Amino acid sequence: QIVNLADYRPTDFVLERVDLTFELDPTNTKVEARLIFHRREGVDPSAPLVLDGDELNLSGLLFDQNEVPASQYDVTPESLTIRDLPAETPFEITVTTYINPEANTQLMGLYRTNGVYCTQCEAEGFRRITYFPDRPDVLAPYTITIIGDKAANPVMLSNGNFLGGAGYDEGRAFAAWFDPHPKPSYLFALVAGDLGVVEDTFETMSGNEVALKIYVEHGKEARAAYAMDALKRSMKWDEERFGREYDLNIFQIVAVSDFNMGAMENKGLNVFNDKYVLADPETATDQDYANIEAIIAHEYFHNWTGNRITCRDWFQLCLKEGLTVFRDHEFSADMRSRAVKRIAEVRHLKSEQFPEDAGPLAHPVRPTKYREINNFYTTTVYQKGSEVTRMISTLLGQDGFKSGMDLYFERHDGQAVTVEDYVKCFEDSAGRDLKQFSLWYSQAGTPLVTASSEYDQASGTFTLSLEQMVPATPGQPDKLPMHIPLSFSLISDNGAAATPSSVTGGEVTGEVLHLTERNQIFVFKGISSRPVLSLNRGFSAPINLQFNQSAADLAHIARHDTDLFARWQALTDLSIPNLTQAARDARDGKEITCDPALIAAILEAAGDDTLEPAFRSQVLTLPSEADIGRELGGNNDPDAIRTGRQAIISAIATAGAQTFARLFDDMQTDGAYSPDAENAGKRALRSSALAYLTYAEATPARAAGAFAAADNMTDQMSALTLLAHHFPDAPETAKALDTFLTRFDGNALVIDKWFSVQATIPGAGALDRVKALMENPRFIAGNPNRVRSLIGTFAFGNPTGFNRRDGEGYKFLAERILEIDPKNPQLAARILTSMRSWRSLEPQRADAARDALMTIERTPTLSTDVRDIVERMLKG
Ligand code: ARG
Ligand code: ZN
Repeated sequence: QIVNLADYRPTDFVLERVDLTFELDPTNTKVEARLIFHRREGVDPSAPLVLDGDELNLSGLLFDQNEVPASQYDVTPESLTIRDLPAETPFEITVTTYINPEANTQLMGLYRTNGVYCTQCEAEGFRRITYFPDRPDVLAPYTITIIGDKAANPVMLSNGNFLGGAGYDEGRAFAAWFDPHPKPSYLFALVAGDLGVVEDTFETMSGNEVALKIYVEHGKEARAAYAMDALKRSMKWDEERFGREYDLNIFQIVAVSDFNMGAMENKGLNVFNDKYVLADPETATDQDYANIEAIIAHEYFHNWTGNRITCRDWFQLCLKEGLTVFRDHEFSADMRSRAVKRIAEVRHLKSEQFPEDAGPLAHPVRPTKYREINNFYTTTVYQKGSEVTRMISTLLGQDGFKSGMDLYFERHDGQAVTVEDYVKCFEDSAGRDLKQFSLWYSQAGTPLVTASSEYDQASGTFTLSLEQMVPATPGQPDKLPMHIPLSFSLISDNGAAATPSSVTGGEVTGEVLHLTERNQIFVFKGISSRPVLSLNRGFSAPINLQFNQSAADLAHIARHDTDLFARWQALTDLSIPNLTQAARDARDGKEITCDPALIAAILEAAGDDTLEPAFRSQVLTLPSEADIGRELGGNNDPDAIRTGRQAIISAIATAGAQTFARLFDDMQTDGAYSPDAENAGKRALRSSALAYLTYAEATPARAAGAFAAADNMTDQMSALTLLAHHFPDAPETAKALDTFLTRFDGNALVIDKWFSVQATIPGAGALDRVKALMENPRFIAGNPNRVRSLIGTFAFGNPTGFNRRDGEGYKFLAERILEIDPKNPQLAARILTSMRSWRSLEPQRADAARDALMTIERTPTLSTDVRDIVERMLKG
């Protein structure tokens, strides 16, 4: 059924304390939960206590240690209702359940992964462990006792501080933990098994020593060093930037190989997909290192934004996720190049969130209804949510933002709050009304801003006309005008910024124009020569901007803007019309041409040694095939898009052969591999150069040479990808894939890469390749990382292979979804969202996609997760 935000009301009973005892057994774990409640003041004395469950089996129920008569309660696998409870005094309910971790393939609740007990409770997994008021606004301190086979479980962990442990009886041991910070059940965690550990310490700003421990499978300890380093840097950064100190005497991370998502911020005991913990130069790419740094930071930052202050209900998910993503973005920007980080964020936002916002799954950053909350851990909640917080920071300035955050921590520590509470802190601290701004939380869809400008030499006046339109989205046909902060600069002929003597037409603060009306005209006076406007610098607002600037103006921005991000954006804007036209020409069988101005601008930036290499590599990475499809907007033919894009790349490759040859030599890094941003940037630029050279030379020789010469995974993967994607049938490619497999067989994370690189080989042959790879004994259908690396990457990352004109790709995906769904509905639902843009395909493909979706929809036994997604995709 559907849950509505408007129906929120607090619980009738207040939970005071939780005391859990686990007697671990792989197939029959006993869970005893002692819960102390009292009835909330003013609540009807006859109201029963209702606890949530999911596939549970009640085996014992006590009230103040006495058995509860059957007449006093009702129980189903999904709920436990107890009647005739006292009106005022606290009472204790003891619930006993037996659960089967081994059989838990959903990976929600308590499950086993590689012989290790592990939990995932967000959002509603705790109810798969015991009957409980499983909602985020029920906060209590927890005591946890874990009893287990001593030999099999030398490590037994939970939240909070360690109380003690010892032998228990014949062959068993116990460990006890106490978490003094009241928390909701979704932050509960338990891990037990035989794991290796890496240890360190951190001294907090007020002088407390925190024990840091990262648990990994035995033998993988050395690969956790970078994660530990990232953790310490995160802890320091949160103290310096936000004044946030850690609040327990121990902080633990556990890396597991079967995990549905990236990681989870359980209080004091973060659980990670091992992909985001383990790294060394031989097996991890620069991108892997950057992801580890970002995700370690993200989960750590949740300790304050999520755990100390949590969500009142799941509609408020962006309160913790959007804010924490913003915090991890800022952290990475401080650790690395801010401009390059921003470029990566915007690429990601446009390629993931913009399509979601433009398709049938569009929803507001703060939704108002859901059928399955797991389907709302979306890029809109996370990434657009982060952009909304970034805009608050833009509106208030960095200091103003910091003051608002200080007030938020001061006012709401220990509470479960709403987006309104959060926004109110900024309104109160800055004395600014954010009512219109808050529409960013409630209106879905990416706003379209159309701009046009005019310059009058005689009066020295520059006029900018802006119009905003927020497209209709499912359930929201009409939209109100939003408050859109547009960072801008007027760039003169000589490249310097022109400062107007006055600006009228709306609010302007510093370098930000505030677009608040549907139509608005800003007039800049005192401009002595025609300026070039650089608008939405730094992507200050997550919008689509339509501004028909000439190629000359864009090239001027690309050359002179002091914001490197804006330079990249100008080059992107310059490339888009070329790429879309190329796709149309390819479709119509016409000759494809590329504007020499684009080639010149790109080669100028790429060859400019005063610019950082990572930035130049971004410049050389043209918008993706999916990006071009989005720009085309409909009736898309992925084959034509690819043909067109390849032709543009070839034109640049031919014209720039000399530049690329020089870069390929110059960007060689020397000395031992180091994952730092500067070296990673050089490797990125060198690999871009290699790609263009390969286009120009049209033989696999150079890539094969680079593959053989590589002494780190970054170089090795980029060469292997180039070989596989451009010369899938060349003997060099077969040999490289084979060498790679032999060298890394047994290393799951690297074997995932081996699957992915083959799953993304473009063209109609991809499907047969993927089918063959499914037969490979290394394909493990129960491991989410492996499934994502083959099936997920094929569906999300291989536009021409997946969107085969005959629709076989969609049919294949539907079969896989129906296979995965009974075991792991969350994984199935997530992979299915790869079809969210099916309506923008040309009719033949769109029809085939609809047929595949309908096959899924007609299946009677679907999980709520998949049913929710498939029905919205067909309807919206
Ligand atoms: N809170 C986790 C994070 O840091 C993600 C948990 C996702 N859980 C889920 N059921 N989808 O972002
Ligand atoms: Zn998060």
